Amino acid sequence: MSDLEQLEAQGVAELATSSDEQSLIAWNQRWFGKTGLVPLALKKLTELPGPERKAYGQAVNKLKEILSAAFAKAQALAKERALELSIATEQLDPTLPGKPWESGSLHPATITMRRILAAFGELGYEVYHSREVEDDETNFGMLNMPPHHPARDMWDTFHTTDPGLVLRTHTSPGQIHAMRERAPNPLRVVLPGLVYRYEQITARSEIMFHQVEGLCLGENIGLTDLLGTLEAFIRRLFGPDRKVRVRSSYFPFTEPSIEVDMDCILCSAKGCPVCKRSGWLEILGAGMVHPVVLRNGGYDPDKHAGFAFGLGVERINMLLYGIEDIRAFWSGDLRFLRSF
Ligand code: DAH
Repeated sequence: MSDLEQLEAQGVAELATSSDEQSLIAWNQRWFGKTGLVPLALKKLTELPGPERKAYGQAVNKLKEILSAAFAKAQALAKERALELSIATEQLDPTLPGKPWESGSLHPATITMRRILAAFGELGYEVYHSREVEDDETNFGMLNMPPHHPARDMWDTFHTTDPGLVLRTHTSPGQIHAMRERAPNPLRVVLPGLVYRYEQITARSEIMFHQVEGLCLGENIGLTDLLGTLEAFIRRLFGPDRKVRVRSSYFPFTEPSIEVDMDCILCSAKGCPVCKRSGWLEILGAGMVHPVVLRNGGYDPDKHAGFAFGLGVERINMLLYGIEDIRAFWSGDLRFLRSF
């Protein structure tokens, strides 16, 4: 038997007794490591006289192939054995319950938004979506606030790097989009969505919150229709016994403008910190659509009239659930979010 044949027999025999992962690693190191037996045998090639080299080289390569294949086979076998062992010894109980899934829930603003839209749905309003990035002209100008109009100060604004593009400060510009699409037809829409204000974040004010805008246009629509609609809405949301009060106010896009209050549900109108001891809670702003706005929307103020209103969803949510700090909505605090 030649030296190489002897080496082969030795390698195969050693492999046969290396049945676990550890001893296979050791075998591989001994035979194929840097100073292993196979590289050593290869090195011998340089010491041989020229004519013998070719035959020896071929024989060493063959040895290398045989041992490599035998090693791969032994490794696969060891893996299989390890798996069989783990199946035989480790117990699997298929009757155990799985890991429970954490189920999410709707964000409180979404819950309240849906309640508000459902209430207006019952009153015959359709939902109309409009953009959150608005041009200055639609957010202010079309709503009867030309550039430098002092009323613009009522809305601290996020401007973008695009001149003339702002984050909408209210859902009111949606009125213009809806009107221009539907003019001169009668219209009853609610416009839900996020609005943005460049304001200090406090317990009572956020830089981002939801509003719902409402717009009702047609012929012979008056202030009493507005009052009836809002009373019906407030009672649907807060209960049939709610009292509603109206104060005069100012918005550039309505004339006359009003603010609508309801009796405080938190203290039964006795007076508490939330209603500032007045017994009344401010719910929304509203009014009869200004003729300038009607015209900008494509309606003829001599023929058409209508009312609009706007309310803050988080604020309504806070009143419904007795929440004192508006920052909770975007805090990402799961204890808050899970309590709905
Ligand atoms: N856009 C007003 C705001 O954000 C709310 C509002 C008031 C909307 C009166 C209206 C309205 O449509 O008629 O403060």
